[in-house]
Amino acid sequence: MTISPALAVPDVPHGHVLASVLRSAMRQRPTGVAVITTRDEGPVGFCATSLTSVSLEPPTVCFAVAVGSTSGRAWRRAAHGIVHLLRSDQTAVASTFARSSPDKFAGSVGWRWGPRGQPLLDNVLAWMLVGTRTRLVVGDHLLIVCDVREAAVEPGPGPLIRYDGGFHTCQQFLTEP
Ligand SMILES: Cc1cc2nc3c(=O)[nH]c(=O)nc-3n(C[C@H](O)[C@H](O)[C@H](O)COP(=O)(O)O)c2cc1C
Repeated sequence: MTISPALAVPDVPHGHVLASVLRSAMRQRPTGVAVITTRDEGPVGFCATSLTSVSLEPPTVCFAVAVGSTSGRAWRRAAHGIVHLLRSDQTAVASTFARSSPDKFAGSVGWRWGPRGQPLLDNVLAWMLVGTRTRLVVGDHLLIVCDVREAAVEPGPGPLIRYDGGFHTCQQFLTEP
């Protein structure tokens, strides 16, 4: 699949203040933490909070990946990938995939090749095999809209949460009655 120029959203002029205010505002939105993998020359993956559910029929999710990142370059042509939702005890996995490094898959993170030849991480809370349906260039990111082909949820601790620049568990947000 190629990126259709007709789908490219024109750049909107903006300044540093707007970008910083947007970043501050979005830090106030707690989100689950995902690692999204695909295969390029070798295994590729990045930590993501931009994952969003879009549709149930047909099952569809989307995420945004920085155009200039290793993953962004891979997703310009990737047909499939795996979205992993991390467990609350996987802060180290999130940190590994938040760094741009060729060694992400050579360290302590366990993984194997998944059903369509993409890296499948061990012991995650849930994973989804996705197929690229649409790519949309939006500013400095590529918005990838995907069909969900297969999904599994594993028992375990709750999700890893990103909030205000740090990692948290759901329990930290619960207040006693
Ligand atoms: C909590 C968290 C969420 C992130 N979410 C995204 C995201 O949704 N999209 C994105 O492009 N980068 C996101 N990043 C940054 C990438 O994980 C980071 O740039 C990574 O090094 C890219 O790796 P790559 O260059 O190997 O693709 C996030 C980082 C963190 C710590």
